[in-house]
Amino acid sequence: MKVETLRWSDGVLEMIDQRILPATFMYFQYDSAAAVAEGIRSMVVRGAPAIGVAAAYGVALEAQRLLAVADESFQRGMNEGFNTLAQSRPTAVNLFWALARMKQVWKSVSSESNMQVAMRLLAAAHEIFAEDIRINRALGSHGAELLRDGARVLTHCNAGALATAGHGTALGVIRSAVEAGKKISVIADETRPFLQGARLTAWEMVQEKIPVTLITDNMAGFMMSRGEVDAVVVGTDRVAANGDVANKIGTYMVAVLAQRHHIPFYVACPLSTIDMAIASGKDIPIEERHADEVKGFRDFHWAAQGVQIRNPSFDITPAELVTALITEKGVIHQPDARKLRALFS
Ligand code: MRU
Repeated sequence: MKVETLRWSDGVLEMIDQRILPATFMYFQYDSAAAVAEGIRSMVVRGAPAIGVAAAYGVALEAQRLLAVADESFQRGMNEGFNTLAQSRPTAVNLFWALARMKQVWKSVSSESNMQVAMRLLAAAHEIFAEDIRINRALGSHGAELLRDGARVLTHCNAGALATAGHGTALGVIRSAVEAGKKISVIADETRPFLQGARLTAWEMVQEKIPVTLITDNMAGFMMSRGEVDAVVVGTDRVAANGDVANKIGTYMVAVLAQRHHIPFYVACPLSTIDMAIASGKDIPIEERHADEVKGFRDFHWAAQGVQIRNPSFDITPAELVTALITEKGVIHQPDARKLRALFS
């Protein structure tokens, strides 16, 4: 089954509800920027590129919704839609990248009729969607060359089809290696507290019959010390101009362990995830999510009542721990500020 994380259907956006996968597979429909923003905030859709694509459709939906109103209200409504989407989640830069691109399209056609504007914005959202799949396929084939036949690849969180418009970034590398005829097996970190590894990565791999073994996050060091991991491949939510990588909480721990055990640590990274405006990882905004996620899972809470809780959703892996960034333009070994500048010049 091909995973369609988001799809345009009869004038609305449909998104798989990733909060309830894999027990239940169902789509929700979205018809406004506010509704899409809520879908992003509540994690119906998650993963940096998928959030960006959803936001682009959110803008297009808002234009469509506002068609009936007067010209001045259209402008105001659109600006409000952009702002609401920008406030949905702070860390994944793809959200802001997609909104900036949509704003540029809007400004370039703002003298045209509202109907024309709405059509152009929908076309731009479709373009961002299609481009994301092309990018993932390109970086997937670059990354596949780094994996030897028979490699056992550890991944953290979900950087798969569910986190993108399709194919995935980290899982895109794995999919491309499998498509190239290599035997690859995956070790999926559970990824507490939201369980993207156990619920989403494991599900994607099982669907495609790519061998996958689930471990809890605290087992990664043991597996590495026993020589059971050949490479780590993860995705990212934002890479700073010096190559520091923000990704799901726990990624930093995996990177430190990988270095200790001389295991390559690769980051699959579309260029839209690199934020050249942020000098280093310490300036990347880190989302702090609700304490309930750490207390237990869904309605079942096992933590002692009254305990204080922290729930940072992302961490920063310093560039020096990154063996390579895998981008659609090729592989950047030992990323640093100079190499990233060159990538955009
Ligand atoms: O909180 P999430 O599930 O949105 O976090 C997702 C991640 O950290 C992914 O690894 C990252 O967005 C890359 S997805 C291609």
